[in-house]
Amino acid sequence: MAILQENTEKKVRAVVLAAGFGKRMKSDSSKVLHSVLGKPIIWRLLKAIDGVTKEIVDLEQIHVVIGHNAEQVEGYVQECVKAAQFSCPIFFHKQENQLGTGHALMSARGALDNFGGEVLVLPGDTPLLTSEILDSLFLSHKKEKSDLTILSTRLSNPYDYGRVLRSEQGEVLGIIEEKDASEKQKQIKEISASIYCFNWSAIGDGLSAIKNNNKQGEYYLTDLVSWSVNKGLKIEGFSIDDSRIVTGVNSRFDLQLANQYLNEMVIYSLMSQAGVTVVDPVSTWIAPEVSIDSDTVILPGCWLVGDIQIGKSCIVGPHTVIEGKTKIGDETKVVQSHLENCEIGNTCYVGPFAHLRAGSKIANQVRIGNFVEIKNSNVDSLSAVGHLSYIGDSTIGKDANIGAGTITANYDHTTKIKAATHIEDGASIGSNSVLVAPVNIGKESVIAAGTVITKDVEAGALAVRRVKQENIAGWSEKRKQQKPKKT
Ligand code: UD1
Ligand code: CA
Repeated sequence: MAILQENTEKKVRAVVLAAGFGKRMKSDSSKVLHSVLGKPIIWRLLKAIDGVTKEIVDLEQIHVVIGHNAEQVEGYVQECVKAAQFSCPIFFHKQENQLGTGHALMSARGALDNFGGEVLVLPGDTPLLTSEILDSLFLSHKKEKSDLTILSTRLSNPYDYGRVLRSEQGEVLGIIEEKDASEKQKQIKEISASIYCFNWSAIGDGLSAIKNNNKQGEYYLTDLVSWSVNKGLKIEGFSIDDSRIVTGVNSRFDLQLANQYLNEMVIYSLMSQAGVTVVDPVSTWIAPEVSIDSDTVILPGCWLVGDIQIGKSCIVGPHTVIEGKTKIGDETKVVQSHLENCEIGNTCYVGPFAHLRAGSKIANQVRIGNFVEIKNSNVDSLSAVGHLSYIGDSTIGKDANIGAGTITANYDHTTKIKAATHIEDGASIGSNSVLVAPVNIGKESVIAAGTVITKDVEAGALAVRRVKQENIAGWSEKRKQQKPKKT
């Protein structure tokens, strides 16, 4: 009964083929776990599948075929599932021997038996695919009442891709792999992205008919196309203009291309839709997860890769790295610095050469100067940590000044215990002071330069800990008159 219901509801299941060796990558890691602008290939692809519009593609399950480095791939995807990154349920199928893309789909057959809906099949190595393209592919498949729709595009250099064979009338006749193609077929510029939409009740039987009588001795998924042609089924080619979207990653060169194409698309959209100036798109890398508000300028040499939000009218760069979950307010300037998992408010000035580490929260109108490292600390508004300082596990109140070379000694190497430093509003820490945590520096208190603080300082007090200075008059002249000793 349940099966009958499934058949009539016409839902959609996706199958991702991710079991291959990825030989051309020459890597110990699975190909689909290599990153494109900070996220693994498989994450980007699954996100695109998961993000289809429900009213268009009623996706009920995603199946991932794993094989080479199976535990690695499944482990990673399961972590994402645990972190609720995908809304569609994901299932795994093991392909014990990697005998080709057709064989990979056979390995997921258990998930498709008696299924009467539509099946989307995708290679696991296509990281730039978008939900919008999948929606359009599906709409076209439905509109044409097609049994099999192939996503294709035209490439000026189609080398290594399967070419789409068409009749003179333009009907799809099959797909021929590079290795099996004649010289004439190699001239064809239309390639298959290996992304298919199948009417499963019409196509499913074809899976058993696939043979491995080709140059590579593999069971090719592409043979389903010629099988369907022979059966007289309705086949459509859905061709897209922007070929970058279906870039397949087979080698390190392809990986670099995928990074470059995604970056181009992100920067184009930031400049045309969000009103952001990117001075040198070639040397600037921005992931699609980054949002930037209007009139912000990104200077050359930046790497902005993570869940990053940057406000209006900021200046970032040159040569700035921002990673992790990081937020920057409006009108803030970040020069030549490294920021990770931190938050910065409005109208701040950071850098050059500042390092803001995880858990740092910087309020508005704060200055963090050169060679300053801040970790897991809050710095409240109008305060300044101008030069050469380390602030760790600390809170700094409003309008406090932290002199050059101030160090919060937050870590006891013997006990491995970290302790906190609290510096209250308006406090002034003299240059080259060491604040040995745990310690509280009271409101508007003053620490004299070069002081080592080991106990709390009450509000309004001066803390000074030095040997009294002595000046010896005429010392320099006397010294000059001393005869050099013979050695
Ligand atoms: C494949 C297509 C080609 C298409 C190109 C688009 C075939 C025979 N070729 O070629 O027509 O133009 O994609 O990018 O289908 N995989 C398995 N098990 C296997 C073999 C492969 O799961 O036994 C997986 C791989 O992990 C990969 C995907 O299937 O994610 C595609 O395999 P790959 O070897 O990259 O095929 P291509 O040579 O790129
Ligand atoms: Ca491929």
